[in-house]
Amino acid sequence: MNIAGLGARIRQVALTSADGTSQAVRLYEVDDLERYVDVGALLGERDPVDPPYWALVWSGAEAVACALMAGPSLVGQTVLDLGAGLGLAGVAAALRGARVCFADRCPEALAYAAASAAANGLVGWDCVQLDFTSDQIARRFDRILAADVVYDRAHHAALASFLERHLAHGGSIWLTDRLYVATDAFFADMCARGFADDVEDLVVPEMGETMKTRLHRLTRQVSVGAPAAQPT
Ligand SMILES: C[S@@+](CC[C@H](N)C(=O)[O-])C[C@H]1O[C@@H](n2cnc3c(N)ncnc32)[C@H](O)[C@@H]1O
Repeated sequence: MNIAGLGARIRQVALTSADGTSQAVRLYEVDDLERYVDVGALLGERDPVDPPYWALVWSGAEAVACALMAGPSLVGQTVLDLGAGLGLAGVAAALRGARVCFADRCPEALAYAAASAAANGLVGWDCVQLDFTSDQIARRFDRILAADVVYDRAHHAALASFLERHLAHGGSIWLTDRLYVATDAFFADMCARGFADDVEDLVVPEMGETMKTRLHRLTRQVSVGAPAAQPT
């Protein structure tokens, strides 16, 4: 099978909830990824290119997906999987009943996420190609999943603005931080924008190893005495 011009294979990913129950998800990934990575271009000093981060399942997606499987039904909820990559987090949200929008700046990522959504028999999902540093979409979401997208400090302010602008009243942002870059200023910015941050430290699988990752659940604080927010 070929997706977006790249050889593809399907694999079963077991999502294990905190209570030990497990659900298998079918996920397309690039077959023999190394074949497509231009190491010379990646290591070249001139005109550096982004590595194909989208083509791997990161610990963030695993953490978010497992937490979603352990959580309540998402029937009737809208979910944005921002920086979806292969789309594991969004697929898990859709399996819990949400209407999911997969968003990424890489069209190849969206092609893979769409193939996996179809392979799991999901309905009610769509894909949007966007760059969160410059684009907006005319929608707000009940939940925004942002698994391992907070790695570039130059984009922190734009990411915070995007998240704030696209979250519906009463919604929440589930964002993972793999603790590789300094993110204190980013989370301080989110708190300054009125968000409360509930943090959970997790150890999750990633490419055959285990990784520490931090799951942030960000919700808008309601000030005492403020009028209740009206649904949009
Ligand atoms: C490290 S990968 C994480 C993929 C997936 N969420 C996961 O955890 O497996 C980062 C993803 O964010 C996407 N991304 C990075 N910067 C972006 C931007 N400015 N706008 C939209 N997508 C972006 C990349 O294309 C890539 O798919």
